[in-house]
Amino acid sequence: MAGDGSAESLAARAGEEIARAADAVELERVRTAYLGRKGTITAELRALGGLPAEARREAGARLNEIKGRLEGLLAGRAAALGSVPASGPGLDVTLPGRLPPRGSVHPVTAVIGEVAAILRGLGFELAVGRETDTDYYNFEVLNYPPDHPARDMHDTFFLSRDILLRTQTSSVWAHVMEKRGPPLRVFCPGRTYRRDVVDASHSPVFHQVEGLWMDDRCGFSDLKGVLDALLKRFFGEDTVVRFSPSYFPFTEPSAEVSIQCSACRGAGCRTCGRSGWLELLGAGMVNPKVLAALGGPWTAPGIRGFAFGVGVERLAMMKYGITDMRWFYENDLRLLAGFGG
Ligand code: DAH
Repeated sequence: MAGDGSAESLAARAGEEIARAADAVELERVRTAYLGRKGTITAELRALGGLPAEARREAGARLNEIKGRLEGLLAGRAAALGSVPASGPGLDVTLPGRLPPRGSVHPVTAVIGEVAAILRGLGFELAVGRETDTDYYNFEVLNYPPDHPARDMHDTFFLSRDILLRTQTSSVWAHVMEKRGPPLRVFCPGRTYRRDVVDASHSPVFHQVEGLWMDDRCGFSDLKGVLDALLKRFFGEDTVVRFSPSYFPFTEPSAEVSIQCSACRGAGCRTCGRSGWLELLGAGMVNPKVLAALGGPWTAPGIRGFAFGVGVERLAMMKYGITDMRWFYENDLRLLAGFGG
């Protein structure tokens, strides 16, 4: 009968089973068997309704005391098993476990890695530059005298009259060339800065990879060969590469390098602004004026070479079909998840 000695022996059995439960699943089974909606203690509590008032009060108090005791034992055992106490019939132990989220490489970092691997394969070695530099290394030695109009596109952040955040990775050239002589084949990936207003294709902080190859027989055909190989390995062998004349103070002649728009195959569409081509990088033969400014081994007869600079975000946007540059910097994990995160 409810609340009498049989309830006590039920409680004793439950206590033993709780103590014996070897894991959270078994413990939950014991809890359900006694205290669940159809559990034996629950059934006893329900049966109280059929008792006379006096007996009901007494048996009810005893059953509730037993119930409290068992709940205490269950929680204690759960803690000992290192599991969270079961929170009632809502727990579904057959659900798959939750995996911790896996991190992934940011697309900008991934692209730098890919370009670096291609350039290493072409014999270039890594050169590390500095993000803060002087006017001399960012402009002057690269043949941008003060007041040169080409500086207009490189409005930047000045930390003092002379120290600025570099606007281009070309600033690394002179540092490397002051320390070493020809032959030289280096690349330098890194962050660059300009005073640009943020929009879908501009950011005041962005990334470039610079390349520089100097020796005594390097010609424009080598420049074309290296950039053709770089872009084909990066975008695919069927990539069509175009060189067109351009101007940079530190190279002469200079070129702008584009690839044919893969969205329209050169016919002209929204992606390429109806031109059929997407401009990717600047390049050229190092201007003798820069070599003269550097002096030393760089003015030896026959020493020449080429350089190129490519925007990393541009590469990533084209390769992965990202249409807004801001996505790179907004720390929205959905972007990263799209890259295998
Ligand atoms: N530094 C140039 C820029 O940021 C890009 C560039 C053009 C780099 C020509 C080069 C080069 O090495 O030869 O606009």
